[in-house]
Amino acid sequence: EHRAQSPGRPGQVLVASNRGPVSFSLGADGSLTAKRGGGGLVSGLSTLTPGTGTWVCAALGEGDRAAVARSGARLDPADTGGQAVRMLDIPDGTFDAAYNGIANSVLWFVHHLLYQTPFEPVFDAAFEAQWADYETYNAAFAEALAAEAAPGAAVLVQDYHLSLVPALLRDRRPDLRIGHFTHTPWAPPDLFRVLPDAVARRLLLGILGADRAAFHTPRWARAFADCCADLLGARIDGQDIHHEGRITRLGVHGLGADAEFLRERASRPDVDERLAALRAQVGDARTIVRVDRTELSKNIVRGLFAFRRLLTDRPQWRGQVTHVAFAYPSRQDLAVYRDYTAEVSRVAEEINAAFATDGWTPVVLHVKDDFARSLAAYRMADVALVNPIKDGMNLVAKEIPVVSERGCALVLSTEAGAAAELGEDALLVNPYDIAGTAEALHLALSMDADERDRRTKRLSAAATALPPQTWFLEQLAALDPA
Ligand code: G6P
Repeated sequence: EHRAQSPGRPGQVLVASNRGPVSFSLGADGSLTAKRGGGGLVSGLSTLTPGTGTWVCAALGEGDRAAVARSGARLDPADTGGQAVRMLDIPDGTFDAAYNGIANSVLWFVHHLLYQTPFEPVFDAAFEAQWADYETYNAAFAEALAAEAAPGAAVLVQDYHLSLVPALLRDRRPDLRIGHFTHTPWAPPDLFRVLPDAVARRLLLGILGADRAAFHTPRWARAFADCCADLLGARIDGQDIHHEGRITRLGVHGLGADAEFLRERASRPDVDERLAALRAQVGDARTIVRVDRTELSKNIVRGLFAFRRLLTDRPQWRGQVTHVAFAYPSRQDLAVYRDYTAEVSRVAEEINAAFATDGWTPVVLHVKDDFARSLAAYRMADVALVNPIKDGMNLVAKEIPVVSERGCALVLSTEAGAAAELGEDALLVNPYDIAGTAEALHLALSMDADERDRRTKRLSAAATALPPQTWFLEQLAALDPA
């Protein structure tokens, strides 16, 4: 038998996340083909010795979960970095309650400060039923991980879907080294207390089951520690959270952009084609580019209002600048997301109706997900607009300066995790302040070329300081017992 630490043994490193690292497309004959999903974790996992990692998830891609489970689709190791993927067979009702109900309709809103509209905190019997499903869903992950993990394995649990997993897994397998990583912001105590006390405590105790609780920025890590102190009476000593005889160490790992991957991908012919098409659409106008999931926390509508305000306050930009806004569908099972998607289109149309001229369309909005076109927009951007209400990190803010060809001024929300690393060279804005955002857009468009170039270079260097592979390996190393 292999020793626990020997290379090449399956189940030595496990990753758990709601959504797994591959997605599927449906063929005309009903067959499913797997393709590699994007994202830092996938490339991070691919740096492991092939065959040593296992990824446990509840959904693959955006498609129908049942169709994927039924299809018996085979995963090509090339799409998963040579690692095993196991999709849990979680009943649809449980999945829906845990994912759409608790994770995306409650926890997401709490951590992103979206707790007035559209999230009204009402914790009633329906919530209790969904919460029970969230517990079941988390327990299913803990069971599967306990079964898959080799002795002493490292397990990296991802995000707010799986807050309870670390403690549940530790009960079953005290030998494991467990890390939890939160990709969202963390709500400070006064906001986190919106949750019923028992639920709030369960979530904190769940994560404290890990050896390490990690975040993108010191700010979110601090908020988590403050919640542990305030709600649980935990003692905070530097980076260590002491509670009930155990220590959980706080970690900060600000995921960076993958420069090598982005530059190579952005130089392929499909991106060139889309760049030419976009150029034809916007002509000589300068561009303000944004690329987001159509997500309430991304604040796309206020971004459009700020652009309208720019055209009103600074009429010299009319006909001179086009807002290229890509807002890709997200979480369409939820009515608030569907409504928000409709609102984004409506406001874009209103602006075009009010300002368009024969040769100029003020807002070019695309709502169909297309990574190659996103990269084309990154390349052509004069200004990038990233104005989330709250965001764990925001990788678009980091990717655009790396790919931009003309040097690109970044207008960035103070509330994005990325502001901690990019704040000095970005133009920072309060995401609620429409006039302030409009003014920042004006300054960004007016910035002289040298200044823009200098800033873009520094932004790009800061944005790539911790590429995904390093981000992943740093967390593994930090879990090492030595
Ligand atoms: C955020 C979360 C991720 C999530 C992603 C897309 O970045 O932190 O965990 O995967 O949004 O959301 P979705 O609900 O489509 O998985």
